[in-house]
Amino acid sequence: MTPLRDTLQGAVVLAPMTKGSNLPYRQLCQEMGARVTMSEMTVARRLKQKSRREFALIRRAPEERFFGVQLAGNKPEEMAWAATLVASRGADWIDVNLGCPIDYFTSKGLGAALGREPNRVRRIVEAITRAVPERPVSVKIRLGWNDAHRNYLEVARAAVEGGASAIVVHGRTRAARYTMSADWDAIAEVVREIPVPVIGNGDLLFRHEIENALARTGCCGVMTARGALIKPWLFREVTEGDLDLTGEERVEVYRRYVALAKGHWGSDDRGVSRIREFLLWHLGFWCRYTPRLPDGSYPAMQVRGSWQPRTPLEALLARSDAEAHAFLADALLAETPVDPERAPAPASAVALDDDALEAG
Ligand SMILES: Cc1cc2nc3c(=O)[nH]c(=O)nc-3n(C[C@H](O)[C@H](O)[C@H](O)COP(=O)(O)O)c2cc1C
Repeated sequence: MTPLRDTLQGAVVLAPMTKGSNLPYRQLCQEMGARVTMSEMTVARRLKQKSRREFALIRRAPEERFFGVQLAGNKPEEMAWAATLVASRGADWIDVNLGCPIDYFTSKGLGAALGREPNRVRRIVEAITRAVPERPVSVKIRLGWNDAHRNYLEVARAAVEGGASAIVVHGRTRAARYTMSADWDAIAEVVREIPVPVIGNGDLLFRHEIENALARTGCCGVMTARGALIKPWLFREVTEGDLDLTGEERVEVYRRYVALAKGHWGSDDRGVSRIREFLLWHLGFWCRYTPRLPDGSYPAMQVRGSWQPRTPLEALLARSDAEAHAFLADALLAETPVDPERAPAPASAVALDDDALEAG
């Protein structure tokens, strides 16, 4: 087994994202250069209950190079059982979710709520490493529950005591959600204090931000979530430099996603309606693409709407209303040209709220 540190060194990891890290989207990101990918959050209990939906989440694409499965649960035996299962189905690496902010899960003691119980975290990691000693285990933490309870060092230490081989740090508290920028100083502190590789996560949208984050913190690698949803070619930018794709080039990327999605879900009526649902969801992120601004500055992840589209196609792709998204989804699915002249007028705005989109 290659040490996890070697695999993660300098990597830009595709984050675990409910809905977002669906199998064909992971394939797309891998084609764009991602070499480490992770599943959507998978609830251990639901695997035990043989939920088909949950089993679909742990499926690995055959060509995935290094695929992690993220598990949510708070019972050591159940997590150990689930880890054994996902390892037998191709997971190269197991991650424990300590960040999910959603009340439905935290009220059951999962996700960010589990991050409040370092001792339990240690026992869970211990149980998993004992069950699958051949697989590295990581935990994905936030900085804490809220500003008054920033316990990230304590949780990271507990995970390492339990046998974790890496720590992923999303540099925000549960209470902050996406309202403020990620705290990369806190991530650097974890790097200094914790003896295993650290993957930093938060607000990375451009290559120079990735380079700065790595240089400034000493992180082994970084992770991107919304950046990869907004522009899956972010992984290519890491090796090739800034890529300001034209509208036509972007449409080609989206068409490639549709082709991969048809390969996965099928092109019959059932497959197409499923893909349409995913496309409408992805278009909510794709429309947020903003290149480097004409004055040479870069738009920040947290700031929107600072860009003047340069062509009618870019203007269409930047629209966030349901009519534009339905029009684009139908053209992509039917594999017909996208003609901005034929697009319907907007009638309704689509909410662009990251907190509403994040379900994991
Ligand atoms: C749509 C969406 C779904 C997410 N689902 C999960 C999840 O299943 N598990 C998890 O640990 N984090 C989840 N997250 C959080 C991301 O992995 C990441 O920690 C967070 O978005 C910060 O990274 P970013 O600033 O690059 O977006 C999700 C985020 C988004 C936007």
